[in-house]
Amino acid sequence: MTTAAVPDLAVLQRQAIARAAARAGGTDRLSGHIVCDGLVRIFKTEGIEVVALQGLELVVDRGDLLAVVGASGSGKSTLLNILSGLDVPTAGTARVAGYDLLNMSARRRLAYRRRVVGFVWQQTGRNLLPYLTAQENVALPMSLARGRTGRAGRRRAAELLDLVGVGYCADRRPAEMSGGEQQRCAVAVAVANDPEVLFADEPTGELDEATAVEVFGALQTINAELGVTIVVVTHDANVASEVRRTVAIRDGRTASEVRRTARVSADGGTEVVTEEYAVLDRAGRMQLPAPFVEALELRDRVRLNLEPDHVRVHPGHGEDR
Ligand SMILES: Nc1ncnc2c1ncn2[C@@H]1O[C@H](COP(=O)(O)OP(=O)(O)O)[C@@H](O)[C@H]1O
Ligand SMILES: [Mg+2]
Repeated sequence: MTTAAVPDLAVLQRQAIARAAARAGGTDRLSGHIVCDGLVRIFKTEGIEVVALQGLELVVDRGDLLAVVGASGSGKSTLLNILSGLDVPTAGTARVAGYDLLNMSARRRLAYRRRVVGFVWQQTGRNLLPYLTAQENVALPMSLARGRTGRAGRRRAAELLDLVGVGYCADRRPAEMSGGEQQRCAVAVAVANDPEVLFADEPTGELDEATAVEVFGALQTINAELGVTIVVVTHDANVASEVRRTVAIRDGRTASEVRRTARVSADGGTEVVTEEYAVLDRAGRMQLPAPFVEALELRDRVRLNLEPDHVRVHPGHGEDR
């Protein structure tokens, strides 16, 4: 457990939850905005099967800002593509905002993608249309999803660009903006249709560190101001340390989770407490962190002891010594 003085995380957290509750019509409706249970995705190419997700478990509450980390190939993009309705899982449960992503008609899927979710891609070029200005890019999904056009649409587009800190780019085309400005504009585009959930797949992957912080700040603002639930895949350890929850994916499963909570410290200030958890699935399976396994040279089998308030894990080898 480590502590650090980061006061504004707590403020943002409270604000995001209050906004989300206001949107949902009560705090009792915050739980389980996104639910994945035993989620499986198998790709078949030329007779070879790749199991990208193998029984993934994940619950995200309304108003949460969750970071997903994991090695390349661990299944992060597969998860986000499923949650955003672009891809269909092979088995398991995936529900977002009451939509069952396994059993959905084409029509309902289209409505889901237009109105319920927003998406930010890693490639800056994929998020914006090059021949439209920033403001036009933001106004476009509004007219498609909400029928909001004309002056009201332009005004809302300008507001959203201001919110993410690039109001001054309203009349510029993507080619006249930096990578970070484009990605912040992309965040505005992604929330233009007023979605309940925003997914971002390595939105800062092509940016330098300082610019990445600005884009991440835009996501935090959107979460706190609009009460949008956000799941962001990131490689960036700095970004992961700025959110309340970070979930690590390993081999297509959620392996561990870091939670940060704000509390009042001994000297009366606010401090953020960081705690690491292993994820326990319904069958009682969990993954030990690799450093633990290596430190005690654990392999093949371990001995478990149930104590009144915890479980002990011992190396299974050398038992008869
Ligand atoms: N369309 C696809 N066809 C075949 N295999 C795929 C496809 N998409 C992803 N995979 C495989 O699934 C695994 C997980 O990929 P991905 O979700 O992209 O990982 P990440 O985003 O964590 O890097 C990888 O082994 C990848 O090669
Ligand atoms: Mg990926």
